[in-house]
Amino acid sequence: MFRLYRIPIWWYTAPHIVNSFIEANDLGGKEIYLFATSGSSDIGRAVSELQAEYPDLDIKGGKLVNGPITKDIVK
Ligand SMILES: Cc1cc2nc3c(=O)[nH]c(=O)nc-3n(C[C@H](O)[C@H](O)[C@H](O)COP(=O)(O)O)c2cc1C
Repeated sequence: MFRLYRIPIWWYTAPHIVNSFIEANDLGGKEIYLFATSGSSDIGRAVSELQAEYPDLDIKGGKLVNGPITKDIVK
């Protein structure tokens, strides 16, 4: 089972409200994929920081989705 979450990017990373969401919910045992709709910053830093902060969670990666939808999005 996997979960897909949209996160905001604030100052190049995920704001603390994302940490609050993670800590208030049981996300264990699920593959977690993140996406953001930010206009400029990439999602890479947010993903790597959340992976480091929550090593017990299976955060697979993330993708910035701020352009036209293409078949590439499913990869
Ligand atoms: C305080 C603040 C800081 C932000 N910093 C960034 C940023 O560093 N890079 C970026 O691309 N967008 C930044 N944004 C724009 C948010 O990523 C954008 O609002 C988000 O995609 C929309 O999510 P929301 O509707 O949940 O706020 C920032 C927005 C706020 C309010």
